[in-house]
Amino acid sequence: MTSAQGPAWWRSAAIYQVYIRSFADGNGDGIGDLAGVRARLDHLAELGVDAIWFTPWYPSPMDDGGYDVADFRDIDPLFGTLAEAEALIAEAHERGLRVIIDIVPNHCSDEHRWFAAALAAGPGSPERQRFWFRPGRGDEPPNNWRSRFGGSAWTQVPDGEWYLHLYSSRQPDFNWDNPEIRTEFEDVLRFWFDRGVDGFRIDVADGLVKDPSLPDVEPGDESPFSDLEGLHEIYRSWRKIADSYPGERVLVGEMWLPDMSRAARYLRQDELHSAFNFDFLVCPWDAGKFRDVISRTLRAHDEVGAPAAWVLSNHDVTRHVTRYGRSGDTGFSFADRLHGTPVDLALGTRRARAAALLTLALPGGMYVYQGEELGLWEIEDIPDALREDPVFARTGGADPGRDGCRVPLPWSGSAPPFDFGSSAWLPQPSVWSSYTAAAEGTDPSSMLSLYRAGLRLREKLPALGAGELSWVSLGDGVLAFTREPGFMFLLNFSASPVPLPPHREILLASGPVTDSIPTDTAVWLRS
Ligand code: NOJ
Ligand code: CA
Repeated sequence: MTSAQGPAWWRSAAIYQVYIRSFADGNGDGIGDLAGVRARLDHLAELGVDAIWFTPWYPSPMDDGGYDVADFRDIDPLFGTLAEAEALIAEAHERGLRVIIDIVPNHCSDEHRWFAAALAAGPGSPERQRFWFRPGRGDEPPNNWRSRFGGSAWTQVPDGEWYLHLYSSRQPDFNWDNPEIRTEFEDVLRFWFDRGVDGFRIDVADGLVKDPSLPDVEPGDESPFSDLEGLHEIYRSWRKIADSYPGERVLVGEMWLPDMSRAARYLRQDELHSAFNFDFLVCPWDAGKFRDVISRTLRAHDEVGAPAAWVLSNHDVTRHVTRYGRSGDTGFSFADRLHGTPVDLALGTRRARAAALLTLALPGGMYVYQGEELGLWEIEDIPDALREDPVFARTGGADPGRDGCRVPLPWSGSAPPFDFGSSAWLPQPSVWSSYTAAAEGTDPSSMLSLYRAGLRLREKLPALGAGELSWVSLGDGVLAFTREPGFMFLLNFSASPVPLPPHREILLASGPVTDSIPTDTAVWLRS
């Protein structure tokens, strides 16, 4: 955990999430790729993050943005080649950036060779034992489980059997009771560790193990496919593999669990290193609620000696400038994406700036989702015909899906596609001309300048990163804490300005601050 060099890097890392398809286009076809990332590594080095997490880059029919993997040991030709990935890992390392990649162990693509073999081999075959194939109940699926993307979690194949898919019908779930699956993924981990990756973000980390009796679920039942006890032994074996490599390789879990102390059990010393704190992401804009979620998170992590990992946005949720720009409910839930609710972007931006300073000041690690450093918001008016997320089609359009947070980044220039190939795969709004990395890079009042300054200070100040905080009481509408040595954080959620407490220096502020701190503004003080 701690060594002669200080605490392990992942305990305080700032990790930048690259959604490759939408980050930067290197070959001009309008789709982001590895060449594009390689050309933009300096953007990330200048930003001041410690690591990059790449969403899946494997060969895939791209039914679910690459989370439908056809081959876990190669790169999709749309993105590049394995040799380019190796070069990218090396070039990132040269800049002091670590590399985390996504692993998707819950399911694969229907184009994976094992699924093709299962279809060909027929009922009762060992090939089908790698998945969950079952006869139906009459004409009905084997049970009442629902896909997280809408509709039944079962699809029937021509010989009459059904297979389970908790996501789209093109993402069959693996049967982790089959030892072959375990061996396969252990080998995949080694394949990429051998190529120098510093860690894995584990997709649907809570979902691999299913209750093999596949019972119907009724409201209030314990889930038969999430947070089952058998998962812990899988991650213990993964941890042994990670620990067998030099240089602190890490395992990060994606888990949307209702109970934080259950999630923390995966972070015991011989399991995963960290997991995303989604309770923080979904928290409504309210001082008391933030204080509560931060306290609960720190307590749950302390119990197992793990660092918290704060996240405001990712490729699955409405961008937080938009969420915080809503007047009523500023929280987030998949069940109710609040698409089309009026948004005040100026308000959302002000709050997003304050939230950035909060996230950067909290104990532990933090994530930046590409474009968040530019202050981008959710694009809600994508024409239906251009929407690619299977959520949109599987819910019959009731849920607009996640395309709106995946719009390609604006790099430079005064009109779309803003140096993203010759035409970006999803349309960018023309007002993004003021939000390009180039424009913001030279504007000291931009979101990019704020992130750069915050990340630089976070690196420099001994009080920030790993460690502890102490709450300070400055009234109901103010979130305030100190960290040692000599650091104080304040965020004013209340409707009126709050006087600044005694301090030696204003280190950084999310907006104009005088001797008082205005509404929706955060400040870092040297105390
Ligand atoms: C979580 C990923 O973040 C999301 O994008 C994906 O659709 C699901 N897991 C299924 O793999
Ligand atoms: Ca491309």
